[in-house]
Amino acid sequence: MALPADKDWWRQAAIYQIYPRSFKDSNGDGLGDVNGITSKAKYLKSLSLDAVWLSPFYPSPLADGGYDVADYRNVDPRLGTLEDFDAMVKALHKENIRVFVDIVPNHSSDQHAWFQEALASKPGSKARERYIFRDGKGKDGELPPNDWVSHFAPSAWTRSTNPDGTPGQWYLHLFAPEQPDFNWDNREVQLDFIKTLRFWSDRGVDGFRIDVAHALKKDMSKLNKSYPKIDSFGITLKGNDILFDRDEVHEIYREWRKVFNEYNPPRVAVAEAYIQAPRRVLYARPDELGQAFNFDLLGAPYDARTYKRIVSENIELAKTEGSSSTWVLNNHDQVRQPTKLGLPKETKLNEWLLSDGKDAVLDKKLGLARAKAAALFTMALPGCVYIYQGEELGLFEVEDLKHQDLQDPIWSRNIVTKRESAFFKGYGKNVKGVAVVHVDKGRDGCRVPLPWTITGKSFGFGSGGSHLPQPRWFKDFAVEAQSGQKDSTLEIYRQALASRKKYQSTEDLMWEKTGDPQVLHFKRANGWHCIMNFDGDAYSLPKGEILVSSGKLSGNKVPKNTCVWVKTIA
Ligand code: NOJ
Repeated sequence: MALPADKDWWRQAAIYQIYPRSFKDSNGDGLGDVNGITSKAKYLKSLSLDAVWLSPFYPSPLADGGYDVADYRNVDPRLGTLEDFDAMVKALHKENIRVFVDIVPNHSSDQHAWFQEALASKPGSKARERYIFRDGKGKDGELPPNDWVSHFAPSAWTRSTNPDGTPGQWYLHLFAPEQPDFNWDNREVQLDFIKTLRFWSDRGVDGFRIDVAHALKKDMSKLNKSYPKIDSFGITLKGNDILFDRDEVHEIYREWRKVFNEYNPPRVAVAEAYIQAPRRVLYARPDELGQAFNFDLLGAPYDARTYKRIVSENIELAKTEGSSSTWVLNNHDQVRQPTKLGLPKETKLNEWLLSDGKDAVLDKKLGLARAKAAALFTMALPGCVYIYQGEELGLFEVEDLKHQDLQDPIWSRNIVTKRESAFFKGYGKNVKGVAVVHVDKGRDGCRVPLPWTITGKSFGFGSGGSHLPQPRWFKDFAVEAQSGQKDSTLEIYRQALASRKKYQSTEDLMWEKTGDPQVLHFKRANGWHCIMNFDGDAYSLPKGEILVSSGKLSGNKVPKNTCVWVKTIA
């Protein structure tokens, strides 16, 4: 069933991110799957969502949680079939929930048929042209072409093996070696992604989340330039970096927009472009992707001035490009907010995780109160809000996963020798007789399967186990434990998202004076007020109906670490 043709539906939507392998397992194999999502259509409906975005569910050897795609136009058989996918879209559309899928265009899996064909073909062949192969340096090409590094450390180059077993050319990968980068100057690559966009659009998919949207084009004429540190956020505001944010990348999205506009309503997209805000919004232009993730609040300190600055800047910036802003507090790459906001300010998150949460004391009550307040604050803002599965349950990061359970390449690849490790607190181990230290625990702690019920082997995730172990405290956060409990995090989210849907109209806000730098108060159309007390004195509410509150009020006053919505006569 197609949904009504409102072409602007996405501008102020509430979109829920599903990490499919960890959402709901329908067949007891310990992995979440497509039928699991379908079975939770009513739950998703109870959150008054406009759409869900599914992280990759495609066939994948899982070298990077599915962001290593082996076949872009299929479903991983462990997660279901294309027919299951169609049934899921139908069930969600029936509840008026639209569906986004994740497009991973920068790199494929090394198991993708094209990469396998490239390995089996000669240097300079058509098959190799789809990726970025180069000869190595040194006498026998035994050294990588240059010093470029990958996000998942260390080198961005891996040497391939020729079909006869001899060492061959090197290929570029900005992430793991199992994720070779495509050559986006190649027309076949460009056309194949258009085919993929049409494939999913024809199946009723409403939108796309574009992975590392800013990295597709590289300046390979600069092969001789040193680039020993990879930090796309740190590049200049002029763009045109060797590896990131190059002007030519926008041509790709202008072509995609034409494809999106073939559909009614037009398909929409959101860019994951981890660069600074003024450059990021260029990806959101109406003739390109339309929207871009704004990650500025993800790591922002819990501070009223900072929040206000980020909000004002982003609303203005999005407007300059004709888009609406997005608000993101959590996703599958980030330590969950209740943990971030409950740790002492000076805590280094990665070190804390490496210590299994022993390095500093987490104040759970404080962290959750702040995370709920921040969530209500962002949900009241004009624009589109993204919610990551489990956020509505107030889940904390699982900080003490055992080493043998970790799946993230960030954990397994970020190792240094014991000598180099003087500056790191990490786990030591021996790799082939060399003492090494892991220096990043990775992102598995926010990807642990959801608890649905208070009891059961995997708290209702499935009838079997769960691919990442769930801690015992998950039971208190289960959907079953919170449903119908008036002040639970889940019910606060439900209430907030329902009110948001009801009162959301124009894309403006008006700041009200509070006289306290730690209290923010803004007003939207329809007499909708949002008041957030970060760390100030209890603040008097305007007269009106209280729509939702992230915590207990003291009389008609908002205490610190609390956010309240009030409806006054407009
Ligand atoms: C960004 C994704 O969010 C992350 O999970 C992934 O590892 C990288 N892109 C590479 O695809």
